[in-house]
Parts: sequence; structure tokens; C-alpha cells
Amino acid sequence: MSVTVLAPATVANMVCGFDVLGFALAEPADTMHLRLTDTPGVTIINEDDFDLPTEPTRNVAGGALLALLREAPGVGIEVRINKAIRPGSGIGSSAASAAGAVVGANALLNNRFSKEDLVRFAMFGEEVASGVQHADNIAPCLYGGVTLIRSTAPLDIVPLPTPPLWVTVVHPQIEVKTADARAILKRQVPLPTAIRQWGNVGGLVAGLCLQDYNLIGRALEDFIVEPVRSILIPGFAEVKAASREAGALGGGISGSGPSIFMLSQEEATARAVAAAMQAVYDRLSIAQFTYVTRM
Ligand code: HSE
Repeated sequence: MSVTVLAPATVANMVCGFDVLGFALAEPADTMHLRLTDTPGVTIINEDDFDLPTEPTRNVAGGALLALLREAPGVGIEVRINKAIRPGSGIGSSAASAAGAVVGANALLNNRFSKEDLVRFAMFGEEVASGVQHADNIAPCLYGGVTLIRSTAPLDIVPLPTPPLWVTVVHPQIEVKTADARAILKRQVPLPTAIRQWGNVGGLVAGLCLQDYNLIGRALEDFIVEPVRSILIPGFAEVKAASREAGALGGGISGSGPSIFMLSQEEATARAVAAAMQAVYDRLSIAQFTYVTRM
């Protein structure tokens, strides 16, 4: 028996919700084929051109599967991976590999594990990628839609209702490593800044639940992480300004970058935002990929 899994791209942080908010994109998605094998352990086969490691302890799908197998001893799993989500793009490439792998393995094991167990296992895959077990890509990849990670220990994931939203993502062809983008963050936040930030996190969650697009737009503002990380992304301020001018509700760095995302109420606006983003990078002579998709 074998199973095929589609694991979607995700946007972590959702601007003001560093490590606690994230959402899934309708596309792109990785495709993974899994089957049980007679030899206990994990076998990784990469079917794409990204040249990722196949040694399970160095591969994010492998790290997640090894965590699952610690609670399913004696099982052997082979996974063939075809990535459509570019590694290092900032739209949850590692989370898709990790989450897709454990979803497929769980299906082969008659769904013996809960969704929360799968988040827990997949977080070990994130650790392989960035050294940190954050869940704000894993949780939306597994649950779909927007998720709030109220707590990781103990795990408390809250899927949120959302009004229809379109997402534009631009991926400038530069490299930003999540570990580096975390290392530069300030360790302390002044109380007045924290107050403004949690006002926005509450406002964003309320805006999504109330289907209030105006409130969503007002709350998409980050006083803590973006001012530090945006220096790693050339053209960031121009992309934001041009996107707002094209009608976006708002947006910011996707995960730890380098991708930038913007939310729009209508598809036509999301496409105008894509054109505005491309124009910025054309002016800067930086190659980019742009995606327009539903949330
Ligand atoms: N919340 C994580 C970070 C997401 O921003 O470091 C990384 O994709």
C-alpha cells in the first residue's frame, strides 16, 4: 500500500504574530509518495532537482519521521519527495516536507496518531532546518487556513475562521537563512512596544473572526520583528508601499523571508499587487518569482 500527500506552502508570523500565527496557501504544494517497507527506519528519495540531503537525520522529512518512529518502533517508511516549494523561499518549504511526511506515515499506520501528535513530530523536522521547533508553518500546513499557536508547550492550536482572502507572494532571488534571521532579533521588547504589538495580534484575530477587512488591514503591522529583519530584504519598503498603493490590505515578510506577502480582498487587486511587486524588483535588477493564490 502507498499514499500520496500534497503539502501546501504556508506563511508564518502573519506580520504581527511572530511564531504564533500562520496560514496555508492554496498553491504551490509539494507532492510526496510514501510506503511501508520491511526494513525498520526511514528511507528518503528526492525526485526533484534541489539536491537536499537524503540522510534522515539531516533531512526535514527524515527528522519528522524519525520522531514519529520513536513512538512506532519497528516500522519502516520510504518517502519519495517532489518539491514544488523552493527551499529557502520563506513560504514553509521545510514545514511542507515535515508535515507531509508525517501525514503520509500516519495514513499508512491507520491514523494512530492525532493531528496534535503530527504537529509535535513535524516540529522536529523544523528543528533540522533552522535549529528551532517553531509551529507557525507546521500547524497551518496540517490544519489549513489560519492557525493560532496559543502555546507550544503544552501544544494548543486554534484554527481560526477567515473571510475570503487573496495572497500575493514575491520571492526575490536572494538567500535569507531562518537561523540567521532569528539570531539578529532583539531579546528584549520595551513594554510600550509590546502593548502596540499585542493590540495588533488581538486586532488581527478579531478582524479575521468578524470578517472585518478594514480591521485586518489596520492590524497588519509589526513593531518588533519587521524593523530588524527588513534590512535583510532589498526593496522591502518599496514593495510594501507599492502594494498598498495597488490596493493591498497589508502584509509583510513571509516567515523569516526573503519572500514578502500581501493580502487582498479581490483577485484583481492581488494581481495588480503582483505587477507592482515585480516592477520594484525589475527596477532593482533582482530576479523574482511571484505567486497569486487564495488563502
Ligand atoms: N516564525 C518563524 C520565524 C518562521 O520567523 O523565524 C520561519 O519560517
